Amino acid sequence: MPSISNKGTQMPASPIRKLVPFAEAAKKRGVHVIHLNIGQPDIKTPKVALDAVRNHNIEVLEYSMTQGSEEYRTKIAAYYAKRDIDVAADEIIVTTGGSEALSFAMGTIMDNDDEIIIPEPFYANYNGFATAAGVKVKPIASSIENNFALPPISKFEELITPKTKAILICNPGNPTGYLYSKEEIRQLADLVKKHNLFLVADEVYREFTYDGRKHYSILQEKGLEEHAIVVDSVSKRYSMCGARIGCLISKNKEVIGTAMKFAQARLSPPTFAQIASEAALDTPQSYFDDVIKEYVSRRDLLITELNKLPGVKVAVPQGAFYCVAELPIEDADHFAQWLLESFELNGNTVMVAPAAGFYASPGLGKNQIRIAYVLEKEQLVKAVQILGKALTEYKNK
Ligand SMILES: Cc1ncc(COP(=O)(O)O)c(C=O)c1O
Repeated sequence: MPSISNKGTQMPASPIRKLVPFAEAAKKRGVHVIHLNIGQPDIKTPKVALDAVRNHNIEVLEYSMTQGSEEYRTKIAAYYAKRDIDVAADEIIVTTGGSEALSFAMGTIMDNDDEIIIPEPFYANYNGFATAAGVKVKPIASSIENNFALPPISKFEELITPKTKAILICNPGNPTGYLYSKEEIRQLADLVKKHNLFLVADEVYREFTYDGRKHYSILQEKGLEEHAIVVDSVSKRYSMCGARIGCLISKNKEVIGTAMKFAQARLSPPTFAQIASEAALDTPQSYFDDVIKEYVSRRDLLITELNKLPGVKVAVPQGAFYCVAELPIEDADHFAQWLLESFELNGNTVMVAPAAGFYASPGLGKNQIRIAYVLEKEQLVKAVQILGKALTEYKNK
């Protein structure tokens, strides 16, 4: 048989999806599985977005422009202007999800064996994008003890080598829920300027910030124009994960010019989804106010309930809709599988995402899980009750 690539062999499987067969088997046994493991919001997609597709009279479903339709990019620029972010339509490339923007960013700025520093735990697919681009991830651990705040800048400096090309942050963070302060962004900005690196910020959860905190984008940082690359997406913002629309933004003309070549190779982003995403920009602020109110009340309830469980430690998220919890166990991978294979409470169990897959350093996060609070409150309470009973039974095994 012809052999597949080393890259393919090294490509990590999704740490979230690998438990799916066990969840399917549990369901076949008649056990109801409450999914705390996925970031698919249960919030309705704004009606304006769906209506725009329903009411469209397209006769030929053509390719769009490689960089996305001009009308859409102009409206995206207006969206940023309202958030004190100054970008022009030609500084934006519309992509097939934030995922494609991430892979364009890596391809644009890095060669084989170049290094990218990423605070961990981080969105697990960064490992996949880095492997696909032949790039080495240099992780830098953040800690649950201080809510996963930015590690000291000196730790970043220790990791910088001649191969380092960029620092990647996720703000607010998946899986941590941490929202970087203006001061932390400023420290990173100074660092990348000092060492002539790129700063890539995945801001797909930008709208989801809590307790009156405001998101500070790297695009707002003066003097960072040549260094800053932002990845964005409509997936979570408008509960439109299936649209597959995102964008890559930079004021650095060479970055945009190069990313355009990667974009040309895949011709164009999806046309119908751009129509939906353009219309979604007319979503009234009241939609976000309601969604944020809902996430805050879910978060508060989830944290309160988790804190009642003996030995459980949890970081309080300030944004996005995930939290990382430390459990009084040794191996969350084993525990998560056991929950699906061997445990039920009145016909129910829970599926969680073991956090080790969100770390690049071996051994870190082994006793942690990520919980996504994209379920109704009643379900969340039930899920934590199940988790509590399961922890007691698991420890006494
Ligand atoms: C932090 C982060 N970045 C990027 C993505 C990719 O999203 P999409 O490709 O749907 O825009 C996700 C999806 O969960 C995410 O959590």
